Amino acid sequence: MRRTKIVASLGPSTDDPKAMANLIRAGIDVARINLSHGTLKDHRYRAALVQERAAKRGRPVGLLCDLQGPKIRIEGFRSGKAQLRNGKPFVIDVTLGSSEGTEERVGTTYKSLPGDVHKGDVLLLDDGSITLRVENTEDNQVHTRVVVGGILLNYKGINRRGGGLSADALTEKDREDIRFAVELGADFIGVSFVRSAEDIELARELVRSAGGHAHIVAKIERLEAVENIDSIIQAADVIMVARGDLGVALGDAELPGVQKQIIAEARMGNKIVITATQMMQSMITNAQPTRAEVLDVANAVLDGTDAVMLSAETAVGRHPARVVAAMDRVCQGAERHHSALVSTHRMDAYFETTEEAISMATMYTANHHSIAAILALTESGTTPMWMSRISSGIPIIAATRLPETERRLALYRGVYPVSFDATTVSGTNLNWAAVEEIKKRGLVQDGDKIILTKGDLYGAEGGTNAMKIVKVGAVAGGQDSAESESA
Ligand code: G6P
Repeated sequence: MRRTKIVASLGPSTDDPKAMANLIRAGIDVARINLSHGTLKDHRYRAALVQERAAKRGRPVGLLCDLQGPKIRIEGFRSGKAQLRNGKPFVIDVTLGSSEGTEERVGTTYKSLPGDVHKGDVLLLDDGSITLRVENTEDNQVHTRVVVGGILLNYKGINRRGGGLSADALTEKDREDIRFAVELGADFIGVSFVRSAEDIELARELVRSAGGHAHIVAKIERLEAVENIDSIIQAADVIMVARGDLGVALGDAELPGVQKQIIAEARMGNKIVITATQMMQSMITNAQPTRAEVLDVANAVLDGTDAVMLSAETAVGRHPARVVAAMDRVCQGAERHHSALVSTHRMDAYFETTEEAISMATMYTANHHSIAAILALTESGTTPMWMSRISSGIPIIAATRLPETERRLALYRGVYPVSFDATTVSGTNLNWAAVEEIKKRGLVQDGDKIILTKGDLYGAEGGTNAMKIVKVGAVAGGQDSAESESA
C-alpha cells in the first residue's frame, strides 16, 4: 500500500473514458482540474467522468480545482512568436492588443506593470528562459534590454526577479471560478500566487458564501508567500510547493532548500502538503522517467510530502496511466527507506487537546509496538490528519460515514479512507463492526493487533478520547464493553 498520494491533472489525454478508468486503476488519489486552460464545458465533463469512474471502482478520488490567479503574461505576437536578440531593446507596452506584438514590442495582460517595475529590475519571461533588464518606464511602457534572448511565444508568463508585482491574488475570473468549482463539487480549491493569509481567508469566505466546503490549497509560488509562510500555513488547509513559478521567483539554486523548508513547516503546523511541477516531465513523451526525475519524486517523499503531483504529464501526455504507475513505484520504493518509517516529530511538543494527545499516543504506540494498522473513527478527518503528521509505516485506516471526508482523506499521507457509519451500529457492537468492515476489505486479518480510536459520541466531530489495542478476530459482537485492554 503506497502512503504518498498522487494528484493527477486532467486534460485532453484523460478525456477518453477508458483512459480515465486506467488512470484511476493506476492509483490516482486526487484529480486536478486546471482552470487556466479549457472551457467550462471541458471542466464539467472531466469532473463528472472522474467522479463516475471512481464510483464504479469503489475508490474515493478527491477533486482539486486550481484557480488561474493573476498570472502576469505578455499578450500575443502578429506571427505567433518573436525572436529576441541579446543586447537589443524590447518594449512591453500595455496599450498593445492581444496579437499586435512584434520583434520590438509586445502587450501585457497586467496593465499596472509600468508602475510596478523600476530601472535595473530583471524581468523573467517564459519561466525564466528569457531575461530582460528594465532601462526606464513611462506611463504605458516598460523599456528593457534583452539580456538572454530566444524565441518568445504568445502569452508567456512574466515574473520579476525578487517578486513584488502587486496584482491581487483573486481576480474577477477566479471569483467566478470559485462559484463554478463549488458547483462541480470540488473537495479542494487551489489559490494561485498567494501573498498572505488574507488571500486564503478571502478565498475561504467566497467558497463558504457559494455554499461550498472545499478545503483551501495555498500555492506557494511568490517570494511574498515564502516570507509569510507561517501565517499562510495557519490559514490554509493544504500547502502546495508550486515549483514552476516559485523556481523563477527564487532562482533554481534556492528552490531545493525552500521545498524542504515548506514541507517541514507544513507538517509541523499540522497541514497537508503537495509537491508539484515537472516531477516526471520527460514522460510527457517518454515511456520511462529519467533518473533525475526518479530521484526528485523519491526525495520529495523522503522530505515528507503528503502528495506528489503530475501536470502536463497526465493532462496532455502520451501515456498518463504509465506515468502514474511509475510514480507509484518510485514512491513505494522511497517509503521503504528507514527515515520514512520513524519519527521524532512533536516529541517535545505540548498537546493542546485530548484529541491530539490520543492521536499522538496512538502513533507512538504504533511505531514502537507490533501494530498492523490503526483504525481511526472520524467525522471531519481531523483525527487521522493529526496521526498522519507522524512518519510511520503503519497504515492509518480512517473510517467515516461521510463521502466528502473520504475524498479529502485521499490526499493525506498514509491514510486509507473507508466508508463506515458508526451511527448505525449499537454502542456495544461498534469495535467489532468497525474491525469487521476493514477485515472484509482485506486490510487486516485475524490475529493482527490494531489500535482503534474513537470518542463517546458517534457521528460527531471532535471528541476522540480513547485508544484501544484490539486483536482482530478476538473482538466478538456485543462484547466491546468487556474488553480489558482499553487505554
Ligand atoms: C466519529 C466517531 C466518534 C469520534 C469522531 C472523531 O464520529 O464515531 O467516536 O469521536 O468520529 O471525529 P473527528 O472529525 O474529530 O476526527
